[in-house]
Amino acid sequence: MTVESAPQAATRSASGSEVDATPAAALGSAAFVDRHIGPDTDQTAVMLKTLGLSTTEELVERAIPGGIRLQGDLRLPPALTETEALAWLRDLAARNKPRRAMIGLGYHGTVTPPVIRRNVLEDPAWYTAYTPYQPEISQGRLEALINFQTMIEDLTALPIAGASLLDEATAVAEAAALARRNTKHGSVLVMDADILPQTVAVTRTRAEGLGIEVVVADGPLLDAIADHDLFGVVVQTPGTSGALLGTAALREIADATHAKGGLVIAACDLMALTLTTPPGEWGADVAVGSSQRFGVPLFYGGPHAGFMSVRSGLERSLPGRLVGASVDSQGAPAFRLALQTREQHIRREKATSNICTAQVLLAVVAAMYATYHGPYGLRAIARRIHGDATALAADLRSLDGVEVDHQSFFDTVQVTAPGRGRTIVAAARERGVHLRLIDDDHVGIAVGEDTTGDDLRAVRAAFGGGELSGEHWGDLAGSERSSDFLTHPVFTSHHNETSMLRYLRALSDRDYALDRGMIPLGSCTMKLNATAEMEPISYDGFANLHPFAPDDDAQGYLELISTLESWLAEATGYAKVSVQPNAGSQGEFAGLLAIHAYHRSRGDDQRRVMLIPSSAHGTNAASAAMAGLKVLVVKANPDGSISRDDLAAKIDANRDQLAGIMITYPSTHGAYEDGISQICADVHDAGGQVYIDGANFNALLGLAQYGRFGGDVSHLNLHKTFCIPHGGGGPGVGPIGVAEHLVPFIPKSVSAAPYGSAGILAISAAYIAMMGAEGLTRATVQAVLSANYIAARLGEHYPVLYTGHGGLVAHECILDLRPLTRQTGVTVDDVAKRLIDYGFHAPTMSFPVAGTLMVEPTESEDLDEVDRFIDAMIAIRQEADRVGAGEWPADDNPLHNAPHTAAVVMADEWTHPYSRTAAAYPFGVHRGPIASGAQDKYWPPVGRIDGVYGDRNLVCSCPPPEAFED
Ligand SMILES: Cc1ncc(COP(=O)(O)O)c(C=O)c1O
Repeated sequence: MTVESAPQAATRSASGSEVDATPAAALGSAAFVDRHIGPDTDQTAVMLKTLGLSTTEELVERAIPGGIRLQGDLRLPPALTETEALAWLRDLAARNKPRRAMIGLGYHGTVTPPVIRRNVLEDPAWYTAYTPYQPEISQGRLEALINFQTMIEDLTALPIAGASLLDEATAVAEAAALARRNTKHGSVLVMDADILPQTVAVTRTRAEGLGIEVVVADGPLLDAIADHDLFGVVVQTPGTSGALLGTAALREIADATHAKGGLVIAACDLMALTLTTPPGEWGADVAVGSSQRFGVPLFYGGPHAGFMSVRSGLERSLPGRLVGASVDSQGAPAFRLALQTREQHIRREKATSNICTAQVLLAVVAAMYATYHGPYGLRAIARRIHGDATALAADLRSLDGVEVDHQSFFDTVQVTAPGRGRTIVAAARERGVHLRLIDDDHVGIAVGEDTTGDDLRAVRAAFGGGELSGEHWGDLAGSERSSDFLTHPVFTSHHNETSMLRYLRALSDRDYALDRGMIPLGSCTMKLNATAEMEPISYDGFANLHPFAPDDDAQGYLELISTLESWLAEATGYAKVSVQPNAGSQGEFAGLLAIHAYHRSRGDDQRRVMLIPSSAHGTNAASAAMAGLKVLVVKANPDGSISRDDLAAKIDANRDQLAGIMITYPSTHGAYEDGISQICADVHDAGGQVYIDGANFNALLGLAQYGRFGGDVSHLNLHKTFCIPHGGGGPGVGPIGVAEHLVPFIPKSVSAAPYGSAGILAISAAYIAMMGAEGLTRATVQAVLSANYIAARLGEHYPVLYTGHGGLVAHECILDLRPLTRQTGVTVDDVAKRLIDYGFHAPTMSFPVAGTLMVEPTESEDLDEVDRFIDAMIAIRQEADRVGAGEWPADDNPLHNAPHTAAVVMADEWTHPYSRTAAAYPFGVHRGPIASGAQDKYWPPVGRIDGVYGDRNLVCSCPPPEAFED
């Protein structure tokens, strides 16, 4: 495709005929592709000229190895306009029938306070932010996450909680892995008989790789504990049936487990914990669960934030991310990620988990729900839920032929009605309520925050009863909570909407997200998440459907999912795609399990060696280890490409044990390596399978297909290529595509919900629908062009470390700062922090090569913004040279002292050898009167943060207000 052939405005008349063909920009085109792609035709031409190219076709010819190139176009439907796409999605949403969800099974009706829905979930200041690796520009979301951690710590009465996990089932599996690591004996994990079925399924999926045996008790849990050589016990409280054990009974379970040297994992319900004894008070070592019912829509199963908290002594084993308090350069309190930040990159196959992306946006919603309601509000909601459940229980047990199975419960009433289960569930559905059909004789009814009197009447009527009696029956097993929670003032300060709105605004104002400017993070693809893509997630039919609602009521979702899966299969060239994995890491795990199961089906169980290039993302090795495979690292050549000699040697030495290779394409070095097809062929010849990590698929989409040049399985990161926003570190979606022979081996349970993060799939579907095949290809080409433009312009100031085919980079480039550091002492950190003064989020630091910055502009940034970034980088280089020349001391210069806060710049005393203006308004930062088009100055709320101090003085809950006093 050439620039000249880029789509022209195709404004349709009501009759469907095309009415104009004037260039889009001139017309104010309705074509979405022209809104999505930043550079217009003229800007694209400037970029091409800088590279000495005349057409984008020439760029593609040069950059991408011919052997892998797709011939022809992807077979996708013609692009829709935003209006058309929204109409399509509205129609699909309307075909879902949420009714009142009273199914339970770990998902509960909730009310998202509108102030939180609009000002977090639907606010780009929150949803377009990146993972807070740069803490100076992330204080808002870090504070929200520390609220989340404090909320979990308080409610579970355990001292350290992480900043969210992917869902409840994976949280249990992670807790099992943690327990295994922290106990020295026993290979059995005993699970409560009343545990959520999806939790058992996910834990079993993980069990083999972890070398553990999962035993689900088929009688009293204490008997199962006595019978097994265990390392851990999982107790679901309240149980799936609703049954609630008293504190004494739970303590007995904990004592029995500890007596056998095991750890106790409590899978618990945050709402119930406002009324019942928390796990930390009856002896649990770990608490896990989902925070969904704290204001996060059901979303047909996800995304929701899982949680984990641990007793002290286990904090260094906590999976995922942990936010901690530290201090900045002025000694002021500030937040940042603590301890194991990016630990999979450091520990790789020895990492405690493979979690990278988590569920930050949803954790923020849950934390703000608790902040808005406060401890009294939460307790009031919980009391109402419990009261409605006991009212229902009293009424149902008064009916003939109906028994309530448990006297002690919080919100879920399990009922025996012999032979009538199906009829009752169908009758309730007729009346607008979804109940849980357990079997012909049993029905489960879970009361939620959103349950109304009409719903209760409908349930009663479905059982053949009449009006509500007003009686109550049932109790909390004498386990009433006596301890306080959410005592920090933040949880009692924002109960009116004005205050909440301002709190949310104040937090998001501290942060730098895509709504402020470019986030050129290599490997992360921070591109436009269009409003039209985001809108549908709030449609009632998408937001409020329970994941276990009957298929008849989920027709819109089922069509959306099969459509998206088929589009992704077409895009990747694979036979089948599954959208279940809810992050890239989970896709990797699922794909590797498929490979392993395939080998096993052929009697090749010994094929367990997975080759992974040294440049691979850390989750690759961590996922392989989790799948029970042995990781062998393949060396890189000095130019960054895979060492073919080392690869050949390792294939030879492991021919009979070879499970396969995991390779990222284009590589994490940002280059299209030649010879990828040959590498795939060599591995296949040795009986191995090829896993292509598709995190960088945005550099191939429309130009090549993994499934056609040698891949057997790949995951995609929909939150990169397909526009799901990063949400400050999640949600993610990591679907896998597999070749025909692997289809039977796609694992069924890698996430809790059948379709993972179903609630956000409409975003990617909207993107594909609005771009069409040609638009998607154009986006890929533009992303590659913009990266090469940056490489060309910055190359003389910072060497570009690796190039690939045709001497070009792919969609990102690595700038090598090591020579600069050697010459001037200025580090990657200094440059990254100085970029904040210039109004930018730093590129990716020291990944995949220490001492470098990896830059990815994406197709969405226009030339003005790309040039602004380049100019800032050049100006910083000049500043570094002044340090190198001795003009500024090494420990007192604008780079070393960056970022500069307003307080520092406005201080009465200024002793630095550069001016205040140079500090805060360096070259290119607008400082005149308000001018249209000029970017406002971004003021970082804190100075450079001392990470080491924070790790030495670990504080992972909200610091007391006094900590913030002057
Ligand atoms: C190359 C690569 N592989 C895998 C992953 C893991 O994806 P996720 O963060 O969704 O788990 C990433 C994420 O940054 C990546 O860049």
